Amino acid sequence: MNRRIHDRLAHTGGPLRRRTTRGRALALGTLATIAVLVLTACGPDVEKPYSHISPASPTAGDIQSLYKLVFWLALIVFVGVQFAIVYTALRYRRTKDSPTRPPQVHGNRRLEILWTIIPAVVLLAILIPTITTLYEHDAAAEEGDLVVDVYGKQWWWEIHYGQDRTQGGQDLSVVTANEVHLPVGKETIFNLHSNNVIHSFWVPRLSGKMDVIPGHVNRLSITPTEVGEYYGECAEFCGTQHAWMRFKIVVEPQDQFYAWVNGQRSGNPAILSADDPLPAGFERAPAAFGVCLSCHVVNGLGQPGLSGIEAPANLGPNLTNLSCRDTLAAGLLINNRENLEKWIDNPGAVKPGNYMASVITPGYIREELGDEEFNALIDYLEGLAPAGGCDGTGAAALGATPAASPAASPAATPIPASPAPSVRVENP
Ligand code: CUA
Repeated sequence: MNRRIHDRLAHTGGPLRRRTTRGRALALGTLATIAVLVLTACGPDVEKPYSHISPASPTAGDIQSLYKLVFWLALIVFVGVQFAIVYTALRYRRTKDSPTRPPQVHGNRRLEILWTIIPAVVLLAILIPTITTLYEHDAAAEEGDLVVDVYGKQWWWEIHYGQDRTQGGQDLSVVTANEVHLPVGKETIFNLHSNNVIHSFWVPRLSGKMDVIPGHVNRLSITPTEVGEYYGECAEFCGTQHAWMRFKIVVEPQDQFYAWVNGQRSGNPAILSADDPLPAGFERAPAAFGVCLSCHVVNGLGQPGLSGIEAPANLGPNLTNLSCRDTLAAGLLINNRENLEKWIDNPGAVKPGNYMASVITPGYIREELGDEEFNALIDYLEGLAPAGGCDGTGAAALGATPAASPAASPAATPIPASPAPSVRVENP
């Protein structure tokens, strides 16, 4: 062989080939490491607040089972197809012994039938349990222990607690926003309403998505089985702030749940007239709070014996026990003084397009009130909590607990036997 060619071959074939092999090994190693990292991120110990793969209710468990079924079937199909490709490529590759092209085949009845039947069988294996689960979940949403009406707003959630069958069917009459408390182990039926656009109510760890449609009430049944906090969001594009239409479901032991209900029902009476006596545990509302009350509600206003003002329309979220909530503006801001000031000072900068921004122009409230009154307003809002604290124990201090003694049965957990709070807010 020509010496120059020999040299070149030795050069290109020798060290270069070794380097390629090493390069491939390196690439494979990197891929394997990434795969392991990705898969460990899916492991059971990682917190997945917005993922359906760690279900905490039977319905979410059913959905997870379907997901697993689809996953494994898809994996089998994937591996089968890859195997067929690799096998065909290797088995029928061009070799030294067969330098000519093999005969070209067009159509094979047996294969055509086979790859029509296999996908049909796979799809049937997915379709049947999916439809069964859909109907089961639909049937479950007919009758539960607790009824909660949810109103999708732009862009927040209004929550109305209705009938509680474990309390003899009494109406809990609690209205709140963006934070839903539920008793563990009890079935709650959510009636989903909208008076604006289509939203979708979704708590990945507790349920599937359910559309919230104007003019039609959809129902969703959730029976949380584990105490904890579960995050939800709107899952249907509904306008500028769709991404910030979040909420939280707090699942708690039944006693704690009813303590919370009591706290909500007791409300935070605000006394606008300086002449009225102030019951123990209540902050006096600054006159400036009247501005907020043109759109918001605080339960307890207008209670008998207190000269509060009557309930206005609830155009904005119900503010009862506001300081007990973790976030402001439907999950957008951590609920602290700094953010509360920022929000009230210029809501349009925090959450562009929101309704409050169309009423409150940048800096308007602070300018109108002056620093001192503005601070007093923030103080008051920060103090909106049950007299005994956010766990609801304050309800007893307000004398709102019924005469009935707390019995051993959780069904008899003390919730006020007294009539519903005077502020019963209907959705506009
Ligand atoms: Cu409401 Cu998206």
